[in-house]
Amino acid sequence: MKIILDRRSSEPVYLQIRSRIRHLIEAGTLQAGDRLPSIRALAEATQVNKLTVIEAYSMLEADGLIYARPGAGYFVYEQSIETPVPATFAPRQEVIIPETREMSYFEICTAVGHANLQEDVINFASGFPMIGAVEDLQRIARRAVKGVGDELFRYDFPQGQIGLRKQIAQLLLHKGLEVSPEDLIVTNGSMQGLSLAMQHYLKPGDWAIVESPSYHGTLAVLQGIGARAIGIPMTPDGMNLMMLEQYLRSHRPKLIYTISTLHNPTGITTSQPHRQQLLALAEKYDCVVLEDNAYEGTQL
Ligand SMILES: Cc1ncc(COP(=O)(O)O)c(C=O)c1O
Repeated sequence: MKIILDRRSSEPVYLQIRSRIRHLIEAGTLQAGDRLPSIRALAEATQVNKLTVIEAYSMLEADGLIYARPGAGYFVYEQSIETPVPATFAPRQEVIIPETREMSYFEICTAVGHANLQEDVINFASGFPMIGAVEDLQRIARRAVKGVGDELFRYDFPQGQIGLRKQIAQLLLHKGLEVSPEDLIVTNGSMQGLSLAMQHYLKPGDWAIVESPSYHGTLAVLQGIGARAIGIPMTPDGMNLMMLEQYLRSHRPKLIYTISTLHNPTGITTSQPHRQQLLALAEKYDCVVLEDNAYEGTQL
């Protein structure tokens, strides 16, 4: 296999290899079951370090495009991008989430911390950047610290640095959301944002809708406020909207919390019609929608 690399490009070489192979799979040049060149062969052919190829292959594996067969090498995955894996996810559960859970948030986070130390455990509790993303973040952080003066290390406006808020407002404008920097608050992570928004909209005893399963940190925030949670089961296309309407009618919740892109922990991204129907139901029953978009812009 010949992969032409642009050595002068700012795009790292492993990302170039990844996108070339991805393109070959999408174009049908590489087909399901095809064997990819060995790490050594590709490293020699493209004049790169073997680690670079390993990195590219690991990312393609994480993308769900190739898989490793121990001792035999890497192969194109049988289910390509056009044929998504059918979702078989159908949780059986009680809809009302108990107010006092078996483990405290502290205990859950401690258990997650221990699980993270084990190599054979895949952590579905929280999202982490992929290896490639870590490198990108390191580069961005280095550039930011180099290019900006000491204002980066000073306290700024309580609602966040104005330069950053302007950038975020521009980013949102590209997505069709007209907000000004004054409408924005920068928080220390999503958890603080969720917590502030939920404290604003919910009082102790209020009902809130969450997807089931949902992000454990959000359930802890609801518990902290003393709000009661209804967990609407997920379908392959997001929360079950028929059940949502039943509970909107019966319990009159104040807020619907949804992770619409790369839902934690199922990975489901809801469709446009599903989002519009959810919004229409929220309007009909005068309920606030709190969208947790922690993973938009990230790749699987
Ligand atoms: C859906 C979701 N929201 C929020 C968070 C918390 O994000 P942060 O670390 O930015 O507070 C997580 C962390 O895994 C998450 O999965």
